[in-house]
Order: sequence, then structure tokens, then C-alpha cells
Amino acid sequence: MNGNFSYCNPTRLYFGPDSMQNLRGELEKYGPNVLLCYGGGSIKKNGIYDQVIEILRAAGKQVTEDGGVMPNPTVEKLYEGCRLARECKADLILAVGGGSVCDYAKAVSVSVHCEDDPWEKYYLRMEDVSCEIVPVGCVLTMVGTGSEMNGGAVITNHQQKRKIGHVFGENVFPKFAILNPTFTFTLPKYQMVAGFYDILNHITEQYFSGQDDNTTDYISEGLMRSLIHSSRIAVQDPTNYEARSNIMWTATWALNTLLAQGKSTDWMVHMIGQAVGAFTDATHGMTLAAVSLPYYRHICPCGLEKFRRFAVNVWQVNPDGKTDEQVAAEGLQCMENWMREIGLVMNLRELGVTEDMLEGIADATFIMEGGYKVLSREEVVQILQESL
Ligand code: NZQ
Ligand code: ZN
Repeated sequence: MNGNFSYCNPTRLYFGPDSMQNLRGELEKYGPNVLLCYGGGSIKKNGIYDQVIEILRAAGKQVTEDGGVMPNPTVEKLYEGCRLARECKADLILAVGGGSVCDYAKAVSVSVHCEDDPWEKYYLRMEDVSCEIVPVGCVLTMVGTGSEMNGGAVITNHQQKRKIGHVFGENVFPKFAILNPTFTFTLPKYQMVAGFYDILNHITEQYFSGQDDNTTDYISEGLMRSLIHSSRIAVQDPTNYEARSNIMWTATWALNTLLAQGKSTDWMVHMIGQAVGAFTDATHGMTLAAVSLPYYRHICPCGLEKFRRFAVNVWQVNPDGKTDEQVAAEGLQCMENWMREIGLVMNLRELGVTEDMLEGIADATFIMEGGYKVLSREEVVQILQESL
């Protein structure tokens, strides 16, 4: 393992088909005023809203509703949430939804009592929290981001054409998260598979860094194999509990800070994908899928040993009689085949990107330095062109 680290994850998870039973006990730990955040209405159609409201009422809570949190939550919505949280003197922010709602709840939690402009402080200046934080709890309905057990909160500013994630510390992690795999059964296939790719990419972002023999990389390989196996079942049979529950658990472990320990981590696919999101508002997982293969093929020669290992250990490529380059290329081909098989978007045009946007997207891309190659701006443009 590389370097020194300390590891603590403070989020309590309740997992399984009956996990909602634990909401009441968690609510009792907080004061009477709850800001209930949710998205565009899926929870009202599938009955999760009714379940949550009933438990909140039984617990005697004063509930202020904050619905309409959009996928890729905006800075304007963040300001609105802060106003609502202040007005109702929120003791707890309860997020019921996917990564967007969970991220939003965390962004509101650190902004309610912030005297500065939260966009400028947390997203442009990347400063730490220096004010009181309102606790957050989550009931997760969409699987992929890992937001239920991490400090990430991604906010989009359409006016400035920037989509930026702030990774907050343990004090901002949700206090609890309820993970019921059956809640994900109503997801449209497009969202379901976008989430699957988000999970894989969270793992590869952390896996493709460093060449050392690292325990974390063996965990990553196991998680990827489980995901690939279960995703194939879920695509054929979306209500297969075993597959959907395995995927839900894999998603949480893919991005709850465990895999990053002892690693430098890459994150360039996410940086390019987020810039694409800032220009198109496209579904997060699909922005990653569209740019991944050109990116990984581009950096493969710089991390050849690891790409070879990825091919053999994750995709079971037989290396006999082949050069390292051939094995690595075969692994990426297997990944491409899987991506096509589960129905991902494989190019940027389908997400609404046009040639004239590429320079702007490259300008909005943060260059990270932890992967096998530090990209130049020209290389980002080249990858975008290849992804078009
Ligand atoms: O808004 P509603 O009506 O609820 O519909 C949502 C939304 O349209 C729908 N949905 C969610 N659960 C459903 C459902 N539809 C039917 N049945 C259900 N059970 O799915 C759509 C997408 O939801 P969203 O929350 O936007 O998806 P996701 O979980 O992928 O979250 C994406 C956001 O998370 C950020 C992304 O950038 C994006 O803003 N990320 C957060 C991360 C983190 N916290 O660490 C890391 C990720 O890399 C990612 O960047
Ligand atoms: Zn992601």
C-alpha cells in the first residue's frame, strides 16, 4: 500500500427489502423540523413518498417539502433549498432519491448557515466548511453515484457552464442511508444502465493509478467482476433481486472512499464527463460512457502493465502467446462489448454535443494528475473528437 492514510466512514447503512423500518429510529435522533428533498416525482408514482410521509408523521415531524430537485442539480436550486432550510429551521435534511437528490441535500447542508456564497466558496474556491452543518439522511432510489456513503456533492452552474464536484469531509457524509434494492426496480432502463456504468467507472478511476501490488486493486477487481456479472442479469431481468441488490452494494463500495486509500487515483473520465454535462445536462453515467474508451485507449501505453492485468483479472482474457499490448487491447475490447451489450451511449453526438462545443468543453475540464498520464488541453480536445 502506498503512503499513509486514515480511514473512517461514519455513515450508518440499512440494507435490504425491510430497511425502511429503520427510518423511524433514525428520525428520533434529530429535532422536529425536517426538510424533505426529492426529485421530479418518481417517488410519488412508485409509492416511496407515501411510505416516507407516513413514517415522518408517525414520528411527529414538521415536514417542509423541497421537491423538484433536477438531475444534475443547479446552483439556483441550491439557493432555493438554503432559503427553505433556513425558513423551516431544518434539524435534518432527508433526501429521498438518487445521487442528484443526495448530493443536493449535502450541498444545502453546508450552505444553510454559510455566510459566503456557497457556489464561490465550495465550488470555485474549493474551501472547507467553516459553519454549522445540518445533518443529512438518505433513502436511496437510484444506484450508481455512491453519494449515499460519501461526501461528494456535484452542482451545475449552467450560466458559467461549469459542473463541479466538491468532495466534503466525513462531517458532511450522510448520517444514515436506507438502501432497499426493490426501490430501484422502477428505474427506466436508460437510468439503470447509466448507473451501472457510473459504478464501473468509479472503480476504474481508482484502479488505473499506480503500478504497485495493492490490496485495494484486488478488491476493485472483485467488485468489477460482480458488477459485470450482475448487470447482465439485471438487463434481462430488471426485478431480479439478487442482481439488483449485488449492484446496489457494489455501487456503495465503489465510491465510499475505501478504494482510494493508498492510491493516487485518476478521475479524468469524470472530469471530461462533467464538462460534457455542463454543456448538455446529459445523464451523468452516459457522459462517462461516451468518453471512456477513447480516453483509456489513449493512456493505455502509459499504464500497460495495469491494463494487461485488467484484461486478465477482470475480463478473463487468455494472455497465452500474446504481447502485453494485445492483451490490454483485448481487455478494452471486452469492456466495449459489454458496454454495447447493456445499452450505453457510446458517443457524444447522441448526448447533444456538436463540434463547435469541443473547445469550450475542453476549457471546462479540470486536468487531474493522479493517473498514468497528465493530459494536455490538446489531448483533451483530441479525446473529445474521438468520442464524438
Ligand atoms: O427526479 P425523479 O423523478 O426522482 O427521477 C429520477 C431522475 O430523473 C430518476 N429516478 C431515480 N430513482 C428512481 C427514478 N425513476 C424511477 N424509479 C426510481 N426508483 O432517475 C433520474 C436520475 O436520477 P439522478 O439522481 O440524477 O441520478 P444519479 O443517481 O445518477 O445522480 C447523478 C448526479 O450525481 C452526481 C452526478 O454528477 C449527477 O449530478 N454524482 C455524484 C457523485 C458523488 N456524490 O460522489 C459521484 C458521481 O460521479 C456523480 O458525479
Ligand atoms: Zn460518477
